Amino acid sequence: MKILIAYHSKNGTSEKCAQLLLKQVGAADLADLKKKTPDFESYDLIVIGGSIRMGMYTRPVRKALKKYEDVLERKKVIYFINCAFPENREKYYKDNISEKLRKRTLGCFNFGGEMDLARLTGSDRMIAATVARQSQGSGHPLASIDERTIEQCAGRIAAIKENI
Ligand SMILES: Cc1cc2nc3c(=O)[nH]c(=O)nc-3n(C[C@H](O)[C@H](O)[C@H](O)COP(=O)(O)O)c2cc1C
Repeated sequence: MKILIAYHSKNGTSEKCAQLLLKQVGAADLADLKKKTPDFESYDLIVIGGSIRMGMYTRPVRKALKKYEDVLERKKVIYFINCAFPENREKYYKDNISEKLRKRTLGCFNFGGEMDLARLTGSDRMIAATVARQSQGSGHPLASIDERTIEQCAGRIAAIKENI
C-alpha cells in the first residue's frame, strides 16, 4: 500500500509531527505542500494536515484540499491538525475539511501544538492573544506535541494496511 504524508508547517511543529508519524509508519512518502504538490492520485492512503492559524489551515493545505477534493474523496484519507487550543478542534475540522471529505475520512487527529505566547512578537503575538481570548477553554495554549495521538494515528494506519 502506497502511503503519503503531506503537510505544511509555519514554524516547524507540523513538520516534526509528520516526521514522527513517518518514523512509526515506516514506508511512506513525505511531502511539504509548500515545496511541491505530490501526485495524490498515485497513493492508496493519504495523511494530510498542518497547523491551524486564526482558525484555519495554512494556505498550502487549504489549496490542496480544495484543488484535489475530487481525488481525496475517492481515496483513503486521514487528516491531522496542529493547534494550540484543542477545545476548538471540532470547529477546526468542520471549518477546514469539507463535508464531502469529512463523510469519507478514516480519521481526524489532533497532534497538539507548540506555542509560548510570551515568546511571540509582532502580529503573531497579537493574533495568538486574540485566538486565546476567543477560545472557549482555559485560554492557556498547549505547549507540546501529543505523541500519544501520533501513535494512535500510526495504529490506525497499520490497521488500514492489514485490511486491504
Ligand atoms: C499567529 C498564530 C495564530 C494561531 N492561531 C491559532 C488558532 O486559531 N487556533 C489554535 O488552536 N492555535 C493557533 N495557533 C497555534 C499554532 O497552531 C501552533 O503554534 C502550532 O504548533 C504551529 O505549528 P507549525 O509550526 O507547524 O505552523 C496560532 C499560532 C500563531 C503563531
